[in-house]
Amino acid sequence: MNQQTLILIKPDGLKKSLTGNILTRLSETKLEIIAAKMVKVSKELAEEHYKHLRDKPFFEELIKYITGELHDRKKVLAMVYWGEDAITKVREIAGATNPEEANPVSIRGQYGRITTKGIYENVIHASTNEEDAEREIKLWFSPEDIIMDLYPVKVIILEKVQKKIWV
Ligand code: TYD
Repeated sequence: MNQQTLILIKPDGLKKSLTGNILTRLSETKLEIIAAKMVKVSKELAEEHYKHLRDKPFFEELIKYITGELHDRKKVLAMVYWGEDAITKVREIAGATNPEEANPVSIRGQYGRITTKGIYENVIHASTNEEDAEREIKLWFSPEDIIMDLYPVKVIILEKVQKKIWV
C-alpha cells in the first residue's frame, strides 16, 4: 500500500554535515521525495510536533534540540517520502529511537549519540504510523508545498494577506 511519511533531518544531522549521507541511505528505500524544504523551527512548532512527550522529563531539552538551540543550527530539512510501505521502510532504515539500541548500520545507529544530559541525538525523525504521518505532514507542510494531493483540501479566498514577493 502506498503511504506518505514525514522525515526531518534534525539540527545535529545538519551540523555534522550528514545531509548527503542520510539522503543516500534513504534512497535505498526507492521511495519518492514529494516535498522538501528548510524550516526554521519555532518553539510552538516544536512543542506541537512533540506534544505526545509533553510530560516527559526530557521534554524541555528535546525542544531545545529540535529548535536548534543545542547545535547553533536553527533549522531542519523537512521532507515527505511517498511509496509502497513508506512508513515501515523509512523507520527500518532510520533505526530505533535510542541510538545505542539502534541497529549499527541504521542511520541512527551510524550517526546518533546520547548526550551527557541523556537526550538521544538521533539525527533524523520519521513518522511512526499513518495517523502520526498525517498529523505531522499537515503540521510541517501546506498543500501547495507537496506535489501530490495527499489529503482532502479546500480552497479559500484570502483578502489583505501580507506576503513577501521579489522586487
Ligand atoms: P519518540 O517520539 O518516542 O521516538 P521517535 O523519534 O523514534 O518516533 O521520541 C521523540 C524524540 O525524543 C526522539 O527521537 C529522541 C527524543 N527522546 C529522548 O531524548 N529520550 C527518550 O527517552 C525518548 C523516548 C525520546
